[in-house]
Amino acid sequence: MTGLKMPKDFLWGGAIAAHQAEGAWDVDGKGVSIADVLTAGNATTPRTITDGVIAGENYPNHHGIYFHDTYKEDLALMAEMGFKAFRTSIAWTRIFPNGDDVEPNEAGLQFYDDMFDEMNRLGIEPVITLNHFEMPYHLVTEYGGWRNRRLIDFFVKYSETVLKRYRNKVKYWITHNEISNQANISEASTVQDFLVWTNSGLRYDETATIAERMADMYQAGHYELVASAKVVQLAHQINPDFQIGAMLNVSPIYPATPLPTDMLAAQKAEQLRKWFSDVHIRGAYPSELEALFERTGYRSDITDEDRQILKEGTVDYLSISYYATFAVKAADGKTPALDDPSSIESVKNTLIPASDWGWTIDPEGLRYTLNQLNNLYPNLPIMIVENGFGAYDTVTADGSIHDDYRIAYLSAHIAEAEKATIIDGVNLIGYLSWGPIDIVSAGTGEMSKRYGYIYVDLDDEGHGSGKRLKKDSFNWYQNVIKTQGENL
Ligand code: BG6
Repeated sequence: MTGLKMPKDFLWGGAIAAHQAEGAWDVDGKGVSIADVLTAGNATTPRTITDGVIAGENYPNHHGIYFHDTYKEDLALMAEMGFKAFRTSIAWTRIFPNGDDVEPNEAGLQFYDDMFDEMNRLGIEPVITLNHFEMPYHLVTEYGGWRNRRLIDFFVKYSETVLKRYRNKVKYWITHNEISNQANISEASTVQDFLVWTNSGLRYDETATIAERMADMYQAGHYELVASAKVVQLAHQINPDFQIGAMLNVSPIYPATPLPTDMLAAQKAEQLRKWFSDVHIRGAYPSELEALFERTGYRSDITDEDRQILKEGTVDYLSISYYATFAVKAADGKTPALDDPSSIESVKNTLIPASDWGWTIDPEGLRYTLNQLNNLYPNLPIMIVENGFGAYDTVTADGSIHDDYRIAYLSAHIAEAEKATIIDGVNLIGYLSWGPIDIVSAGTGEMSKRYGYIYVDLDDEGHGSGKRLKKDSFNWYQNVIKTQGENL
């Protein structure tokens, strides 16, 4: 109990992504997406990117939780919890199967017409992501992913098609999911490979140098930002009431010690990702990035016209995911620098606990990051569109699931979000927890890393009845929403 309560029009709800839930990966004209060629992994074994879909491999996104066929029943459960908003994405490949098709696929458009009608019927506000780790695979094999400028036009055409089609059904849009993930070039190479793949469809062999990867990341990120800015402008012409948001994962990075070099390491590590929100929100590159481009030549293709587009296509709100925090220190004998990933070392923060997947549990970090964002972008509306606790759940003999660990995580985080809003004055407009129904994990491809209030009876191999069961957190969250966050 914080004694605090969110305003009446606050958007309480949950969020998923098409590729992690829908399944039906090849029906009604849908094309292959970059998520369709990702095999299953687990906490210690990374997912593999295969060359196309290979018979006999386990591709968990091919079935997801069969949401394509069950969304009516599933949305009814969200409505029962009192959801005011629900975030999902449009699978780009249902609309343009290859990405460069001349005409959109009517069956795919109709599918989302029906889904958004259902949300509106239930009084649930749709929050729709245009690009959530599921771009057409064909755009990778034919064009090399987002390192190619032509991707801008393909994305804008797809976006224009759906913005027009759903102009009276959806108000809140998000352009690219967690656009800043790909900046973490200094991570172990398997993580690097995964994040640039999911964000931008970039692939490398072991000969690729860090400098090459960095140049590509800045180029791909730039094209994605230009594409987003064009979509913002178009969207406002299509419907002036549209609210178009940027989406970033925010993970505060703490210095391992108060040594000035560690402070600098933390600052540089944050700058490595923060420029994406600067460009989305302020419409211009921050000076540390301009300086980096001058020094290194990483910026290969940023035109004056691009700069104008960025300036005129700034977003209406910022949406964020928040799960965990990190700690860094300056590498021995080195001055932390943006263009030298080896100068900043990640260290384990032993002062706070972590999940079974090693993700730190840091509720105060959420209040800290909301304040930090409000300092950077004063009064900008912020929506939390992902936050949650991935954990193993056990179904007891009577079918109940006692997920007190999840309730503890969520309740502590919501309490900090309330303090940020009511005590600190952050303009927070919504809280959508991640995976209100269990879905396939994006990072590992597992079903057993569960976030939901609703349990889905499927295992990591896709076996199971698919039956939905309410966990203890179901009633808990229902009560949180009913009391506007007063009863945590
Ligand atoms: C975010 C993504 O990175 O985190 C989601 O936007 C993802 O797609 C979520 O599912 C949680 O990560 P994971 O790996 O536990 O599924």
